[in-house]
Amino acid sequence: MKQLCIVVALVSVFGLSFQKSTPQDTHYVAAVVEYHRLTTNVQNNTARYVSLIQEAARQNADIVVFPELTLTNAQYTFEVPINGLVKEQPVPALYPSGYDEAITAISQAALDNQIYVVINGRESLDCRLAATRAVEYCPEEKAYIFNTNVVFDRKGAIIDRYRKINLFGEVAHTPALRPELGKFTTDFGVTFGHFVCFDLMFQVPAIQVVQKEKIKNVIFPTMWFSELPYLSAVQIQEAYAYSLDVNFLGAGANNVRVGSAGSGIYSGKAGALISTMPGVSDTRLLVARVPKVPGQITEPFPGPIYDNPTTHDNLKLIIDPSLASHKSRLLVPGFQEFTLEDGDVSCTFRVNIGRRTGNEYYRYRAGAFSGVRSFSGVATGGMRACSVYACTGDERDTCGMRFSPYVANATAIFMELTIRATMPTPVVTENLQADGSVVYPVSLSVATLPLETREYSYAKVPSGDRTLHIYSLENKAAELYSFAVWGRQFSTDGQNATDPITDGASVHFLSHFMLVLVAIVLRQF
Ligand SMILES: *[C@@H]1O[C@H](CO)[C@@H](O)[C@H](O)[C@H]1NC(C)=O
Ligand SMILES: *[C@@H]1O[C@H](CO)[C@@H](O)[C@H](O)[C@H]1NC(C)=O
Ligand SMILES: *[C@@H]1O[C@H](CO)[C@@H](O)[C@H](O)[C@H]1NC(C)=O
Repeated sequence: MKQLCIVVALVSVFGLSFQKSTPQDTHYVAAVVEYHRLTTNVQNNTARYVSLIQEAARQNADIVVFPELTLTNAQYTFEVPINGLVKEQPVPALYPSGYDEAITAISQAALDNQIYVVINGRESLDCRLAATRAVEYCPEEKAYIFNTNVVFDRKGAIIDRYRKINLFGEVAHTPALRPELGKFTTDFGVTFGHFVCFDLMFQVPAIQVVQKEKIKNVIFPTMWFSELPYLSAVQIQEAYAYSLDVNFLGAGANNVRVGSAGSGIYSGKAGALISTMPGVSDTRLLVARVPKVPGQITEPFPGPIYDNPTTHDNLKLIIDPSLASHKSRLLVPGFQEFTLEDGDVSCTFRVNIGRRTGNEYYRYRAGAFSGVRSFSGVATGGMRACSVYACTGDERDTCGMRFSPYVANATAIFMELTIRATMPTPVVTENLQADGSVVYPVSLSVATLPLETREYSYAKVPSGDRTLHIYSLENKAAELYSFAVWGRQFSTDGQNATDPITDGASVHFLSHFMLVLVAIVLRQF
């Protein structure tokens, strides 16, 4: 009884004193917030952020990350004078007259709760002022608004500012004037890189910050618009952490009506320590102990939060427009093995599929693609894929959709599924010190979450300038929407998107092919 009392006393002491991780510890504690705005009022959101910071600290988090653009609104901006006032007065809470109200309140909460805080919001920079031009890079004498991450340390001091480089439309914002990487070091011995949302798709900063700066921990505030079949939020966050072998703290804005949701804490090849992809309006604080060496798991962790798939009916999902440009083949029931090629990509599929009990059921296509895709009309980028993806019918234009409302037992049973994808081996872009292409194993289940890492196997076999990727489904009970070796190729970014394959074109292709064949056959005689 006496021992029990001591234990209880110790727990309460530790509970109150906010255990901080140290440089010697093998783990640190991270928190990310999936945040649903109840109003665009900044005071209201600041107050809610402050309670979430308190709650994260109560759960012993060393750092808490908030999503993109959920604090400020379309009218509101703050200044982050990192080369000016921040040098003399780095703690807004101790110098409120010099700083914006929301920034001061977050600084105060970081200080009160002794926790690192990362927020994102609209930053103004007035280059019309001589005082600004004296300390900031100002290519023009005008007022700028950036989409900016701000990092506070445990003392409430501003220690880093990162401006989004790759805007997703966002006509009111200016991209970073110079592509500066976000990076800061903590008192628990971990250095973080950080960027924002659409940045994840690009060589600068997503690949560069990890490879050039040798970063092992990445922070990601986002307001992602999930897309089938390759780029839903948690799916690509987890795939990035896996392929780049980093810890990844993704905090997503929650607005399911427009398709924004999805947050998680991931550790390299171990996958999600905790993740969530809500189909409903919700604010969720996710906390996990993160091993400093990515993937080096030594203790149990919460894992993905599985919501009932019927709750995803209200989550808007866009469709990858490049599906219309994939060389594809409809899978048939039973066993099949075949190869599809497109440009520099060769995909061999070994598949054995059967049906579940449902009357409505998904068809699946195998696809190969190497070309340029559009990102919702705001940008284009090089892409390669060897994939299997669900369709609601036999035709190509039914792919990348879900039955709505949700239908149970509509996915196929994959008794066997192996993709052997041969793609160019990434080559370093010397001036950027970053690979010119990247490949991710991606998957999506009926829960709108990726498969857990134990449910698949993935191996890379480089052989000179070509690399073979072998991606196999291990969990035969998985309910799959998609399973793909998917990658980005950066040198063709900005080029026109590859034309869709029209049936006319394929007939044309066929007749052209027949002519060539005839010519070859004729030449034999
Ligand atoms: C924020 O606004 C919502 C909706 O108006 C309200 O329910 C909530 O109590 C407010 N929260 C705070 C902390 O002001
Ligand atoms: C789905 O299949 C399982 C297993 O065959 C069965 O138990 C369940 O009732 C089915 N659900 C529906 C809604 O058909
Ligand atoms: C790209 O598309 C635009 C608009 O459709 C067209 O004018 C231009 O010629 C295209 N460029 C190339 C290289 O095909």
